Amino acid sequence: MATKKTIAVIGATGDMGCAFVKALSNSNYRLLLMSRDKNKVRKLSASLKEKNPVADVEVVECERKACWEADIVLMAVPYEAEKEVAEKIREVTTQKIVIDVSNPLNEKYDRLITAPGTSAAEELQKALPNSKVVKAFNTNFSTDFSPAIKESKQIKTFIAGDDQEAVQTVSEMATAIGFKPVVCGILSASRNIEQMMLQLIELKTEENYNNIMGWGKSIHAPLNFKSIIR
Ligand SMILES: NC(=O)c1ccc[n+]([C@@H]2O[C@H](COP(=O)([O-])OP(=O)(O)OC[C@H]3O[C@@H](n4cnc5c(N)ncnc54)[C@H](OP(=O)(O)O)[C@@H]3O)[C@@H](O)[C@H]2O)c1
Repeated sequence: MATKKTIAVIGATGDMGCAFVKALSNSNYRLLLMSRDKNKVRKLSASLKEKNPVADVEVVECERKACWEADIVLMAVPYEAEKEVAEKIREVTTQKIVIDVSNPLNEKYDRLITAPGTSAAEELQKALPNSKVVKAFNTNFSTDFSPAIKESKQIKTFIAGDDQEAVQTVSEMATAIGFKPVVCGILSASRNIEQMMLQLIELKTEENYNNIMGWGKSIHAPLNFKSIIR
């Protein structure tokens, strides 16, 4: 069995953070949960252990401590908060994998707020120059992490990064929680991957798409979709 990796989840109580920790707590990972809302994160940890007594989950007091102990850092915070978090963890993420799931959207969700010629992932890499930033999961919805989806193994997640080993590690993590990893290239490929989510949101608004539809989802998926609609 592969060595158990430790993942620090920053923003663990948010929509995406919560979806990740629920999925990862049933796989071979040790999880360090970080949220500014201590009551909420303790309740989340307790509920994970209630559902799965062998879940390797721990609440950590601050971002720095979480990242110090981790092999992988999962940034599940809004794009606007990433720089602030990066300031706190820069010194403890040297040579570590940092996963960026963000969609740098404006308040109306109709434009990206990153400058042309860059991406949220590349900006995070600039803020954490000694880490290995990998873009992944931004084209997936938090509802895509449900066990029904995992069983179907139908949903792709698009991955980009400059460090091949880091990309491989994130691909393995994606597979462990039921996604099909699709490696798109080096980190600058994130520009396209981030555009994809903007286009999907446009389709959702204009063409009445819902969360069942999306990039990398097979319309022929043999799923009982009713079971995954919230
Ligand atoms: N929701 C989705 O389906 C989805 C899909 C694809 C990608 N994403 C991306 O995933 C990321 C998280 O989105 P979300 O929908 O999960 O948002 P959310 O529900 O609002 O959760 C955001 C989390 O970030 C934390 N946070 C906010 N500002 C912070 C700061 N300055 N320092 C530390 N923690 C901070 C919040 O903690 P507190 O509770 O302490 O405020 C909360 O736990 C975003 O970048 C988004 O673009 C989301």
